[in-house]
Amino acid sequence: MLQLTLEEKAALCTGLGPWQTVDVERLGIPRITMSDGPHGVRKVKNIEDFGLAESIPATCYPPAAALAATWNRELIQKVGEHLGDECISLDVDVLLGPGVNIKRTPLCGRNFEYYSEDPYLAGVLGAIFVKGVQSKGVGTSLKHYTANNQEYQRFTISAEIDTRTLKEIYLPAFEKVVKESQPWTVMCAYNKINGIFASEHYDLLTRILRSEWNFEGFVVSDWGAVHNRVDALKGGLDLQMPGPNDRDVQKVIEAVRNNTLDEKVLNQAVERLLKIIFQAKEIKKGHFEFDKEKHHAFARKVATEGIILLKNENNLLPIKNVSSIAIIGGMAKEPRFQGGGSSLINPTKIDIPFDEIEKILGENVHLEYAAGYAKDSGDKTLINEACDVAKQADVVILFSGLPFEHESEGFDRKTIDLPESHIELIKAATNVNPKTILVLSNGSAINMHQWINDVPAVLETYLLGQAGGGAISDVLFGKENPSGKLTETFPVRLEHNPAYLNYPGEAGKVRYGEGLYVGYRYYDKKEIEPIFPFGFGLSYTTFSYSNLTVSKKTFKDIEGVTVNVDITNTGEVPGKEIVQLYIHQSNPKVDRPFKELKGFSKVELQPNETKTATFYLDSRSFAYYSVNYNSWIWEAGEYDILIGASSKDIRLNTTVTLESTQELSSILNMDSTIRDWINDPKGKPIIDEIMTQRVNYIKSHNPDLEIDEEQMKEELLSSAIDLPLLRVFKFAENLLPMPAEDLVKLFLTRVGVNNEEK
Ligand code: BGC
Repeated sequence: MLQLTLEEKAALCTGLGPWQTVDVERLGIPRITMSDGPHGVRKVKNIEDFGLAESIPATCYPPAAALAATWNRELIQKVGEHLGDECISLDVDVLLGPGVNIKRTPLCGRNFEYYSEDPYLAGVLGAIFVKGVQSKGVGTSLKHYTANNQEYQRFTISAEIDTRTLKEIYLPAFEKVVKESQPWTVMCAYNKINGIFASEHYDLLTRILRSEWNFEGFVVSDWGAVHNRVDALKGGLDLQMPGPNDRDVQKVIEAVRNNTLDEKVLNQAVERLLKIIFQAKEIKKGHFEFDKEKHHAFARKVATEGIILLKNENNLLPIKNVSSIAIIGGMAKEPRFQGGGSSLINPTKIDIPFDEIEKILGENVHLEYAAGYAKDSGDKTLINEACDVAKQADVVILFSGLPFEHESEGFDRKTIDLPESHIELIKAATNVNPKTILVLSNGSAINMHQWINDVPAVLETYLLGQAGGGAISDVLFGKENPSGKLTETFPVRLEHNPAYLNYPGEAGKVRYGEGLYVGYRYYDKKEIEPIFPFGFGLSYTTFSYSNLTVSKKTFKDIEGVTVNVDITNTGEVPGKEIVQLYIHQSNPKVDRPFKELKGFSKVELQPNETKTATFYLDSRSFAYYSVNYNSWIWEAGEYDILIGASSKDIRLNTTVTLESTQELSSILNMDSTIRDWINDPKGKPIIDEIMTQRVNYIKSHNPDLEIDEEQMKEELLSSAIDLPLLRVFKFAENLLPMPAEDLVKLFLTRVGVNNEEK
C-alpha cells in the first residue's frame, strides 16, 4: 500500500477494461476478472469486449425465478458450487450475482433474475447461493444494492421509500446475505434512493453496509452507475466499472491534490480492493475443464425442482395410459429458457421439450405437433391446424409463455398478459380437447384470468435453463414429482398489484406508496384473492400436517423459540413438501402486515413416511423496524405461529408469548401526545398522576356530584388522547404552577429525556 503512488491508487479504483481490474506489475498486484451471471457464467470470448458480446459456452442453469421456486437450500448451494467450478475452469474470479431485489411489480423486466417478493426468502436463498459459489474460492457480487425494482428509467429514477419500508422490505435480503455469507463484492444499483444515486449513497454504502452489517469486501458500481467519481468514493464505492476511464481517474488524483478528497478515503478503497484481489488469486483452485455432461445433468435436476404444478383437475397429470398426444405451441420446439440482457448465457447444449417427450415415450404412443402461433397476434390458420391435431389426441400438451422479446433487462413489460396469439390458442385448444395440459414458460407473474378456468392442468415452469426440456418431460410423465412453489403472488389482474398506482413514477421519481405492503402482505391486508398465492404449488402426492409444538409457550427474546411440525406423505408416490412458517402479531402497537414468512423447510417423503420440520425463531423473527427508536423492536406479547402449505393455506397454528428484555430509552419529546406518553413505560405513571389530580380537582369543585373516578378518567382521556401533552397544558395554563413548557420539560426529565439537546 505504502509503495503505491497516488496515480496507481486512483487507477486501481477504476476497471482496466469491461471485466477486469487494473494490475500493477512492478508491485506484483494481479488483475481479477469478473463475469455475469448469475445463472451461468457469461465470460466473453474476447475479454476486451463490452456488453452482450459472444460468450464462451457454459451451463445455463435455471434463472433465479425458477431456482427460487425450488425453495431448496441444499440444491441452491450445489448450484453455487457448480457455478464456482465453471468460473474456475473459465478463469473467472468473481461471478456477478446473485440479484436479490424484491419483485415489487410483475412488470419489472428483470424479475426473472430475482428471487422473490419476500425479503426473508430472497435473503435465505441469496445467502446460500453465495455460500455455494464462494466455497470454491470464487467471489460473488450481491446486486443491485438497492431498490432497483423496475427497469423503466433505471439509470436515473429515484425510488422514494420511507425508512421503515426500506428497512423491512428492500434491505433485509441484502442484510442477510452480507451477514451470513460475506459476498466478496456488493454491486450498487443504477437508480437513486430518496434522491441520492445508489453509487454515492453514504448511508447505504458505508453506514448501513459496512458499519451496521460489517461488510468486508469491496463495493463495485453497476456497469456505468458512477456519476461523480469523487463523490462515489466518498460515499463508499470502491471500484468503478467498466474501465478504462482516464478522466475519472484524473479527477480522483486532482481531488486528493487539492484536498477535496481525503487520501485516507482512497487508501481505504484500495485496501478493500487489494484484499479481495489477493484473496482471489491466492486461494489454490487448480485448473480443470468442467464436465459439461455432468453439469447438464445437474441442471436438469435443478430445473425439475423449479417446476410448479398450479392446477391438476382429475389428476390429469402425470400423463399415463394414452395412445396419442398432441404437442402444440412453438415453444415445444424452440423453448424459452432464459431472459435477455447481461445474464444471457451461451448454453453448452439445449434440451428441446418435444425431443425429450419423444424420447420418454414408447413407440406405441402416437405424437403429433403443430406450432399454433408464430407472432404475438393470432394466426387463424395456425390455430386451426393446431386444433385439428388437438382434437384427435387423447391428451394435449400446450406450450405457451412469454416470447423472448417480452422480458429482458433494460425495459419493463407493458402488460402481464400472454400474447394474444397464445390466449387464442389456449381457448381454441381447450375448446376442442378439454384434456389440455398447459406448460408455461415466463420469467414473471402473468395474467391467467382470461383462460384459467378452461384449462384443467397447468405447469408453471418459469424459465428453466438449458436442461428444462428434459425436466418438463420428466414431470409430465411422472418420472419426477413436481415440488416447486411460487415465490411471488400471481394476481387476478395487474390492477390488483400493490405498486399499480405508483408504478412507474413521473418526474424522475417513483413513490413506493404501498410501503410495507408488497406482495402477499398487501393481498392479505386488503383481502384480495390472488389467482395463485405466494407459496402455492401442488404435487402428485398429498401431505398432512400434524403435531405442531413449540419449545416454550412463553419465551424470552434472548432464548428464541424452536418450532416443530410433522409432515406425512399421505399419497402414493414419493414427493417433497415446502412447509412455510409465518408469524402474526396479535395486538401490535404499530401497523404491521397480517403475517410474514419467517421460516421454511423442504421435506422429502416416501409414501406414508413422516418427518419433522424444525424452525428456530429469534427475536428478529418477531421484530419490526421502529423509526422512532431507530432500531428493530420486538414487542412483548402474543404472536401466532402459522404453519402453511402456502400463504393462503394455513394448516396449523399456535400462540406463543414473547417476553422482551429489550431496554428502550424513552423517545418522548415536546410534541408527544398523551397516547405516546401512555405507551411509554415511564410516561404512563405520569399521565396516571395527572389524571388523578385532575379528577380530584373536579371532585373538590363539585362536592355534590357523584363521581365514578375510573369512568371519568377514561372519558377525559378519550377526548384528549391524540393531543400533545403540551397543548393540553396550554389550554389550562392558568391553573398550572409553572408555564406549560416548563412542566412538560420537567416530566421529560423524569422519564430520562434530556430535552435541552432535542
Ligand atoms: C447489469 C448488471 C451486470 C452488469 C455487467 C449491468 O447492466 O445491471 O446486472 O452485472 O451490467 O454486465
